[in-house]
Amino acid sequence: MSHTVIPVDVFDYVVFGATGDLSRKKLLPALYYRFADGQIPDDSRIIACARTNIDKPEFRLMAEDAIKDSASSISIDESVLKRFLCLLHYQVIDVFNDDDWSALKTFMALKNDDRVTVFYLSVDPSLIDPIVSGLKANQLHTTSRLVIEKPLGFDLPSSVHLNNLLRSVYDENRIYRIDHYLGKETVQNLMALRFANIMFEPLWNSHYIDHVQITAAEKIGVQGRGGYYDTAGALRDMVQNHILQVICLSTMEPPATFDADSVRDEKLKVLQSLKPLTSEHMNANAVRGQYAESAEYSGYLQDVDKKSSQTETYVALQFYIDNWRWAGTPFYLRTGKRLSEQAMEIVFIFRKMPHFIFGKTSQEVQPNALVIRLQPDESIDIEITTKEPGHGGMRLKETTLETAPSTSIQSQDAYQRLLMDVVRGDQTLFMRGDEVEAAWQWIDPIIEYWKQSDRPVDTYTAGSEGPESANALMKKSDRAWRKIQ
Ligand code: BG6
Repeated sequence: MSHTVIPVDVFDYVVFGATGDLSRKKLLPALYYRFADGQIPDDSRIIACARTNIDKPEFRLMAEDAIKDSASSISIDESVLKRFLCLLHYQVIDVFNDDDWSALKTFMALKNDDRVTVFYLSVDPSLIDPIVSGLKANQLHTTSRLVIEKPLGFDLPSSVHLNNLLRSVYDENRIYRIDHYLGKETVQNLMALRFANIMFEPLWNSHYIDHVQITAAEKIGVQGRGGYYDTAGALRDMVQNHILQVICLSTMEPPATFDADSVRDEKLKVLQSLKPLTSEHMNANAVRGQYAESAEYSGYLQDVDKKSSQTETYVALQFYIDNWRWAGTPFYLRTGKRLSEQAMEIVFIFRKMPHFIFGKTSQEVQPNALVIRLQPDESIDIEITTKEPGHGGMRLKETTLETAPSTSIQSQDAYQRLLMDVVRGDQTLFMRGDEVEAAWQWIDPIIEYWKQSDRPVDTYTAGSEGPESANALMKKSDRAWRKIQ
């Protein structure tokens, strides 16, 4: 499908942690594809910074391999790749060493124009403080933008501390907290669907929506990230950020205009309206699970090489958004690793008809559903009931209307959009500090409850649909999870 490409201004993208996983798997390929599409001016520079003692040609070789590895279905144009590699530079930097900072500063000053400057921190959280301090001490912060990845803190106090640190050097309007789920095509399509069409708005509330199901199921396990994952767990890794962000955009009020702060003000209000899960209701409304060995897969404990761990690889929650629009509509979310399929969807399930005129068949009719799918393909579908064609009388069947036809977009696409948004200076798809804190405020009591609880984490067989207790959570309100597919 052809699309309009508007080149961005010339920039310097300085990536700290440039030899790391995220940089190789996502950032470098994303920048390459934007370049190949004609969006990045040739005079731009990507300045890779890391401690690894390699030189520019070695880094370029590493980047070439990374881009080719990511290509899977898209063919790489060798001549374009060659031109792209010329944009890459490499600076060895130990962030505690003043001389290394001076060298970086000198290199950056070689281009003495008013180009957009971005510092992207793809580093261990312990390095954020020295890097931000180094940027300030070397006067590199004055006109630049700062991009920072999750984890954005570990709980509310640590996220407040992080926000204070960042804001002591950068104004909030130059801090870009990235959540790649916000860069996904469908997430933005959802906003177009809601706010560029009149037909959904009257139905988008608890009068018409019976309940909402959010599923983020992954087939993969912890994939060599066991060290990090065992200290985080599914609630911190997926719910606090990606899932709550998607919920915010799906349920927020229409912002006055589509600008960064109007959108983020509305998202913040949703987070502030999340009804706290209190300890008396926690057992009934919150489930945590951990995958156990199956014939096909190893179990979590083997994957993280531990004898015991209470870290959850699966979470299911029932909760409410206590505001005028959503009061009374239950939200159910589940996310987990090593589940049967890779699937991410948010489904609005409508109430049943007040009166059904088609007699006996009424029991068989499914309620309408609006399905927003982010994985494996991206699409927005409406499930409705229609007449079965033919002369056999009035028989009903379920039909799916595709409002936004499915597209199989490369996963680095989210990064492509977000990386360019930083250069454009558009913060709409980035989290503001107060949102991150509000999300932790809701999450922290759940973590605390589990920490204190003497009920061990439930187990589920790797490759299944999750623990039995998650089904019970639904059953108590006479509902059932949709099949993960
Ligand atoms: C990351 C989590 O933020 O998102 C991972 O740390 C998870 O554990 C990943 O696998 C999921 O992203 P995506 O785009 O593959 O759904």
